[in-house]
Amino acid sequence: GHLADTEHFGRVSRDYIVVPKADFDLPKYRGSTRAGHCMIYSRSEEKIFGIYTARAMILMQLRFDGYIGFPGGLIHEGEDILSGLNRELFEEVNVNVQKHPVKEEHYVVTHWCPSKKLLLHFYAVEIPINDLKVIEEEAVKAHDYGTETLGTLRIPLYTMGDGYRGFPAFLANSYVGNSREQLLYTLQHLSIMSNEEITKAVEARPVMLS
Ligand code: GTP
Ligand code: MN
Ligand code: MN
Ligand code: MN
Ligand code: MN
Ligand code: MN
Repeated sequence: GHLADTEHFGRVSRDYIVVPKADFDLPKYRGSTRAGHCMIYSRSEEKIFGIYTARAMILMQLRFDGYIGFPGGLIHEGEDILSGLNRELFEEVNVNVQKHPVKEEHYVVTHWCPSKKLLLHFYAVEIPINDLKVIEEEAVKAHDYGTETLGTLRIPLYTMGDGYRGFPAFLANSYVGNSREQLLYTLQHLSIMSNEEITKAVEARPVMLS
C-alpha cells in the first residue's frame, strides 16, 4: 500500500502519518489546524535537449523562507478545504480558479503531523500544457508574489548520465513541511514514476571528483 511505500522516501516521513478520509472526523483531529496544497501538472512526452523524456510538467514554488513547496496554505476557521485551497491558489499563483478549480475528484492524500497538530490535505490537478504555461506567466502577477512566493518552478524528472544531476539533485533541496513526501507519493500515485525509479533517485548521491 501507499503508506508502506512512502515510509521509505523521506527524511521527514516518520513525523507524518497518512490519514484515511473516513478518519477525518475522529475526535483526535477535531480542532486541529488544516492546510490544503496542490500539484498542478501536465503529462508530457516532450524531449528535453532532444534526449530526456519530460514525463510531466509539475509546478512547485520557491517560498519566502527559502524552502520549496506546493502552492496552497492554511484553511481558515469555518472555511471548507476546497474553498481555502482555491483561495490560496489565487493568492499565491494567480490561478484562474474559475477555469481550473480544484475539486474533490482531484484529492490524493492527507497526512497528519502530530507535533504541529496539522492535517495536510493534498490534491493534484491535471491541465493542458498550454494552460500550465499561462499559469506560469500569470504567477508573477499574483497578490503574494514577491513576498510569500518567489516564483514557480518546474521539476526535472529525468536523471542525467552521472546518475545524480536532474531529479536526484532536485530532491536535495530543502522542502517545507511534508511537501517532498507529497511529491514522491503523488508521482507514484499518478504512475508518473515507478516505486523503483523513485527509490533509486532518493538514494542517488553526487559523484565526487577528486
Ligand atoms: P499564510 O498565507 O502566510 O498564512 O501562509 P499559508 O496559508 O500560505 O500557509 P503555508 O502554505 O505556509 O502552509 C501552512 C503550513 O503547511 C505550514 O506549517 C507549512 O509547514 C506547511 N506547508 C507549506 N507548504 C506546504 C506544502 O507544499 N506541503 C505541505 N504538506 N505542507 C506545506
Ligand atoms: Mn494563508
Ligand atoms: Mn498563502
Ligand atoms: Mn502557502
Ligand atoms: Mn497568505
Ligand atoms: Mn500571509
